[in-house]
Amino acid sequence: MPALRILLLCHSFNSLSQRLYAELTALGHTLSVELDIADAVTGEAIALFRPDLVLAPFLKRRIPESVWRAVPCFVVHPGPPGDRGPAALDWAILERQQEWGVTVLQADGDFDAGPVWAHATFPLRAASKGAIYRREVTEAALAATLQAIACFAAGDPPQKRAPSADGWRGVLPQSRRAIDWSRDDSSTVLAKIRASDGQPGVVGTLFGRPCRLFDAHLATAAALAGLGGAPGDVLAQRDGALLRRTVDGGVWIGRVSVAIGDAASPIKLPATQAFAAETAALPERAAPLVRAADEWDEWSELRYTERGERGARVGVLSFDFCNGAMSTAQCVRLRDALVELKQRDTQVLLIAGGDGFFSNGIDLNGIEAAAHRDGDSAADESWRNINAMNDVALEIITATDRLTVSLLRGNAGAGGAFLALAADEVWAQRGVMLNPHYKNMGNLYGSEYWTYLAPRRLGADGARALMQRRLPLSAPEALRIGFIDRCVDVPAGEALDAAVREASLLAASYNLRDRVLRKQTERAAHEAERPLADYRQEELSRMHRNFYGFDPSFHIARHHFVHKLPHAWTPRHLAVHREAGAR
Ligand code: COA
Repeated sequence: MPALRILLLCHSFNSLSQRLYAELTALGHTLSVELDIADAVTGEAIALFRPDLVLAPFLKRRIPESVWRAVPCFVVHPGPPGDRGPAALDWAILERQQEWGVTVLQADGDFDAGPVWAHATFPLRAASKGAIYRREVTEAALAATLQAIACFAAGDPPQKRAPSADGWRGVLPQSRRAIDWSRDDSSTVLAKIRASDGQPGVVGTLFGRPCRLFDAHLATAAALAGLGGAPGDVLAQRDGALLRRTVDGGVWIGRVSVAIGDAASPIKLPATQAFAAETAALPERAAPLVRAADEWDEWSELRYTERGERGARVGVLSFDFCNGAMSTAQCVRLRDALVELKQRDTQVLLIAGGDGFFSNGIDLNGIEAAAHRDGDSAADESWRNINAMNDVALEIITATDRLTVSLLRGNAGAGGAFLALAADEVWAQRGVMLNPHYKNMGNLYGSEYWTYLAPRRLGADGARALMQRRLPLSAPEALRIGFIDRCVDVPAGEALDAAVREASLLAASYNLRDRVLRKQTERAAHEAERPLADYRQEELSRMHRNFYGFDPSFHIARHHFVHKLPHAWTPRHLAVHREAGAR
């Protein structure tokens, strides 16, 4: 296939855009990115880059006519052929479709109605819109995009015209998302919240205050045992979530967004934090950390189970923190869990992150909220959070009596990507995207012992280059440069089982003891050369400047990120067509 010049035109450089960018670059195409800011700016990008094709994986506005008439523009629509409109996935999840799809169509005068170049389907799992988008939609979009580009490059015509008939469905109104607690059963409540997660949430009230609901999980009979209450009542708490009675059981609601002080817009927070006073006296229904295999489905943030016989045993720890953001409190709980689990007799500890994300580093929402809390500040919360995050990394690095493996089942960014390196080996599912750099968040220096961990894998120059480059890495590319050790080439939903099988082989391997001894010797030598505390102190002195210094870039970038303020320009490292001499 001839190499094409492809301009990615997107509302933001989100995970789907990043995946397409990485995969198409790996295939030899030349890519540049322009964020959709204004028609005139898009026109300028076309003139500068002169693409063969514009690819629009994530847009919130129409492509201007002057652009689609000048260059073929492929739009990735998260719905099957014929489906049209801005809330395709929301409707599909709300209506509990069994199968859904992605269509690549060519932009023309009508929204989502141009000629279809390719499409792909997938079974629609019971999960949040964001989770489906980052996994199934992304895989299907990649397959359909590659097919569409192959046809285009070969000079073939599009497959067919999309039926322009009645496929249009507008935004899903809040009236259709609203929960009637006196009638809706648990599966209806879950479908409504999942169809609205991560945006715009379900408008509702809690304790008489307006808020939006997110991050819902089914409550089991065990969680509800002995609790009375009428439908809609809040019964208990766990890991920051609230247990709310439904007509046939209950659901956990993990996140709510509420107006906080003079914040620019509501902030999405753990439900118990947003309603701290109202929930203080609620009973705690903690779930056990250590589980038998058949208890795995009981929702809580931390879960641990063991597989295999004594002497060849694997411990599997998952931490499913909403959006991969790790607040101070979550880091403390995870660190305590690691301390406890290091006492157990396992040969390999599989640190399996969450189902949707491995980790995205410190919790920027929690930090933003602290800026609006009396007697607290964003700088203080940032400082507490990064220290707690470092404590987690330290527990993993110092687990020298067994092998440790980080398993990335979902994406990882910033400090979350470097946290993975704290383990001896890093494995990632084939479709995972990594953003192993900090600078995009207001030039943050970063910690998590990255100055110790990254050069060990990449060399000093490699680590520095990665930090400066600020681009996403696909799992295969991360493997190629040595950032990870293994690509788990199975569908994302099977990655945990596949990794447990591999980890079991590792735990039973004849030379495991030698490897562990070698690891201990190496760690001791490194410590003698330069103590971990020294790396930490050096990193934190730079972070202290980011948080408390005269340059407010981190605080500004965080504020923009949390409040989802639109981009004013495309960063230069993405818009390569704007670099002098790029043509
Ligand atoms: N703190 C709080 N929320 C975070 C977060 C963090 N560190 N990282 C991601 N999120 C949230 C996003 O706000 C978004 O929330 P929503 O559900 O309300 O829409 C959700 O997670 C998904 O993130 P999104 O940016 O849409 O996902 P993506 O896969 O397209 O991009 C990243 C992934 C990692 C590139 C991007 O989320 C990011 O830059 N995160 C910040 C990382 C960071 O700087 N951490 C702090 C330094 S260690």
